[in-house]
Amino acid sequence: MAEPLVSLLDPEFEEDPVGALARLREISPLVRIGFPGGPPVWLITRDKEIKEVMSDPRFVAGISKVPGHQGPSIQEQLLSSLDLPDEMVDYSKSNLQVQDGADHARLRRLVTPAFSGRRIKALRPRIEETSARLIDALAQKGSGDLLRDYSTPLTAAVICELVGIDEADQPQIRAWMDEYTNADADFAKSVRGLFAYLKNLIERRRVEPRDDMISTLVQMMDEGGDRLSEAEIISTVAVLVNAGYHSTAHFIPNAVLTLLDNPDQLALLRARPQALPHAIEELMRIATPLPTTGPRYATEDLEIAGVTVCKGDALTGSLLSANNDPRLFPEPGRCDVDRVLKPGVSHLAFGTGPHRCFGASLANLEGEIALDHLMLQRDTLEIAVSHDKLRYRELIPGGARMFSAFPVRF
Ligand code: HEM
Repeated sequence: MAEPLVSLLDPEFEEDPVGALARLREISPLVRIGFPGGPPVWLITRDKEIKEVMSDPRFVAGISKVPGHQGPSIQEQLLSSLDLPDEMVDYSKSNLQVQDGADHARLRRLVTPAFSGRRIKALRPRIEETSARLIDALAQKGSGDLLRDYSTPLTAAVICELVGIDEADQPQIRAWMDEYTNADADFAKSVRGLFAYLKNLIERRRVEPRDDMISTLVQMMDEGGDRLSEAEIISTVAVLVNAGYHSTAHFIPNAVLTLLDNPDQLALLRARPQALPHAIEELMRIATPLPTTGPRYATEDLEIAGVTVCKGDALTGSLLSANNDPRLFPEPGRCDVDRVLKPGVSHLAFGTGPHRCFGASLANLEGEIALDHLMLQRDTLEIAVSHDKLRYRELIPGGARMFSAFPVRF
């Protein structure tokens, strides 16, 4: 087995992940890296090979599908350490992020109608209203934390409303979600709380259906056939809420910072606000908070770009590396809101293949509205501390860009 070439905890990585990845990308499309607390993993550094691996059914997201695999997966180890009741362990195993092939396609198909272009477009007025209300409150205070006072309440409200969680329950949902990403919080307690809440909500929607996603899923479940089980509904809604909340909430301050650091690009957008939907692509490429895909596992020995990968090996795609590859994005460090890409080229901030982000259109819409309200309709937003005082949370090693706080003033 190849030895790790580099650890994601190396100071070189922590100080300048984009630069460190550029060097690795030139060495090989696949490099062996040390991951804290686990066996070495292949980091895929180039766009072409990331797309190949993520779309090849010989790589799976659920390790139990690797022939001969024994012992619990990382996820199962985590679950058993939480001491959850059996039914809650079942919920977690139904998670679409660790399903593959037909099982995965079936889960996605059942949830897809809630994310249709029409449904997402219809959310615009509500997102605008919530955004405007939050900004007005923040502006009235004069200063605050963009994450706490604006982007997390905004993205929580949007995803909760989309799936059908009542407004009155949203502060509790946010509290559980925040605990998920807080190393000092009681993770088991928040998982139990969220699962029990969703189980109860399903019951309520069964008795009194509404025009929301949970009611539709419950109705499908009760009609029988190839429908979602209760465990699948709970697990899928939990994944949607979690994924829909954090990434977009952290993208917004990252994009604000990118625009403040590039005043010429901000001026272009203020002069031509209609260019914002196009600019979101460039901002997503540069300011996405997520550095990598989740892990995939090789189900057999095989070769990728001349590198031998053994059965059971874990691989992860470096989205941060692919998004900064000068072969695809000339001068990748430059923010160019008018950037026109060659045909067939796109950023990988939302991943690729069957597990590509479910909420990409929603994230783009939320990002567009947030930047319009914060940066184009107003021109007084400033970061209230010097840039070197902004700190990223150390949740995912390897270049995750999630600020712990983002103090601003108007
Ligand atoms: C800026 C915001 C966002 C970013 C950068 C982002 C990024 C990603 C990426 C990279 C993946 C693929 C992971 C992999 O291949 O292992 C993913 C999957 C996913 N995302 Fe997002 N996401 C964002 C917002 C959202 C929103 C708003 C939702 C709302 C529902 C969402 C729901 C999901 C779900 C459910 C998956 C799992 C899909 C599957 O496994 O089939 N994401 N996201």
